[in-house]
Amino acid sequence: MPAAVGTDINRAASLLVQGGLVAFATETVYGLGANAFDPRAVARIFEVKERPRFDPLIVHLGDAHWLSDVVTSVPPPARQLIDAFWPGPLTLVLPKADRIADLVTAGLPTVGVRMPSHPSALELLRRAQVPVAAPSANLFGQVSPTSAEHVAQQFGSQVDYILDGGPCAVGVESTIVDLSGERPTLLRPGGLPLEALEAQIGPIQTAGSKSGENEAQISPGRFLRHYATRTPLVIVDGLESLSRSGRVGLLTLVALPGDERYVAVEVLSQRGDLSEAAANLFAAMRRLDARGLDLIVARLVPEAGLGRAINDRLRRAARRLEHPPPC
Ligand code: TXA
Ligand code: MG
Repeated sequence: MPAAVGTDINRAASLLVQGGLVAFATETVYGLGANAFDPRAVARIFEVKERPRFDPLIVHLGDAHWLSDVVTSVPPPARQLIDAFWPGPLTLVLPKADRIADLVTAGLPTVGVRMPSHPSALELLRRAQVPVAAPSANLFGQVSPTSAEHVAQQFGSQVDYILDGGPCAVGVESTIVDLSGERPTLLRPGGLPLEALEAQIGPIQTAGSKSGENEAQISPGRFLRHYATRTPLVIVDGLESLSRSGRVGLLTLVALPGDERYVAVEVLSQRGDLSEAAANLFAAMRRLDARGLDLIVARLVPEAGLGRAINDRLRRAARRLEHPPPC
């Protein structure tokens, strides 16, 4: 059966209240949402996504005042970041309140919360009047959706409704900062640049730099293999000499002389604009994946601003070791 796709926010909100599964647009990527206070509805997210139960979900709020229902404390740096960047692509990890189902947080004592800025997401949350647990609306480990069509292709009638909010403007997932411990820690680079966060609250350590802690335990979604295309993807640094046979496609920030030798080329932003590149990234990966290629070659982008998030997604999409680069 085809998916129910449309722009009826009232319908989407009442489905959420009744325990339904609603995919909806946010400014980052599409989310697959359920009422965060309803464990049975949340369980369906894990089933449909084929997501392991130990990978916690982000809870979406329609207003920063809702925080008092979902977390037990908001430390001063969290307050500063909320004032500066909500609504927007920033998730904060804070101590969890009892009302949030344990399933949402995979048993962790903390919960990831964010207030999206996409107008239809905000309107949906406000009409539903419940916090909504929502991972990206893709099968576990695969490329995140940035259009209603991407969601419909993957889930069809498995979801009760897809609220179409057009293409996602940011295009990569939210930046996640853990503020539940002694020092602010970046768990995932994303749509809000690290530089902007540090300008507000000072230095933020990265999860990998915490000694003695297993990265997967801090943020399970940071598994090395994630955001994967079906076609093998390898990262090349600098100028690659393409000597291997087969159909090879290229994912690049800007087109360079000689790129015509690839069977398919996706240019993320010919003017080298990293925001534009982030907005195009996942759709470009999907288009290359649909071309029946033997290999996708990806060039990293400058490691600053949104470039951190783009490179993070490319590195996680890449097949490692068993597929050496073609140069
Ligand atoms: O932009 C986004 O964040 C999108 C949209 C839909 O809001 N959501 C998203 O959700 O990317 P998901 O489930 O694909 O990724 C959420 C990440 C996972 O890596 C998860 O492990 C981490 O957030 N996470 C959630 N709660 C956490 C917690 N309490 N502690 C540490 N990591 C957490
Ligand atoms: Mg995801």
